[in-house]
Amino acid sequence: MAIRIERRAAATQAQGIEPGYAQTARRWPSQPLVLRPHTPSELSGPQVQRCLPEIRGDLAGYGERRALGQLIRLRVRVVDEDGAPLPGTVVEAWHCNAAGKYIHPNDSHDAPVDPNFYGAARLAAGDSGLVELRTIKPGAYPVPDTNGWWRPPHVHFSVWGRVWLSRLVTQMFFPGEPLNDADAILNAIRDPEARSRCIARLVPAGRSPHFNELVYDYQLVVRGRKASPGMP
Ligand SMILES: [Fe+2]
Repeated sequence: MAIRIERRAAATQAQGIEPGYAQTARRWPSQPLVLRPHTPSELSGPQVQRCLPEIRGDLAGYGERRALGQLIRLRVRVVDEDGAPLPGTVVEAWHCNAAGKYIHPNDSHDAPVDPNFYGAARLAAGDSGLVELRTIKPGAYPVPDTNGWWRPPHVHFSVWGRVWLSRLVTQMFFPGEPLNDADAILNAIRDPEARSRCIARLVPAGRSPHFNELVYDYQLVVRGRKASPGMP
């Protein structure tokens, strides 16, 4: 039997249709959410980790085949509500190139394609819940059919749980970006502290063996009071 579930925490999760963010009208459930317990077949069926192979941890390439842009390394830890690592979790990441262009047929932005940029990765977290992605810093891009809204640089993440019904889709932002302050998606999270958890932390230069890459640390929290906000 379906059980009605609590509303999302108002301060730390987006609540519905956001002014200036037209897509929320299509992405927000029109009916109250219900909790449907997983069935035995869902729990015993093929596990996500066995069905989704890893696809590259490097979107930037090397030498003559290196993507344009500033090299970065994202060190993403996947943890539960107690901060315990979740090894084996499948993490998908995708973002636009340094000019703000996605590798996607629906991207109509008049920005150049980068033939050496790979736009997406899928990785399994290691024993400490860590996923490392070498890539370039994504550019900002204008949102079509809006009055001058530009998305700040960001990286999309999809985190798969053990079964197919368990998935978190969210976005990571970069510190110090002026466009962060006006972004309708980031600011759909009302609580400044919760918003700050959506922003990666720059590792001080020199504290990483990867001297030609700026290193960012980030944490994906899959549930609980400090769960990463859902941002489709
Ligand atoms: Fe995006």
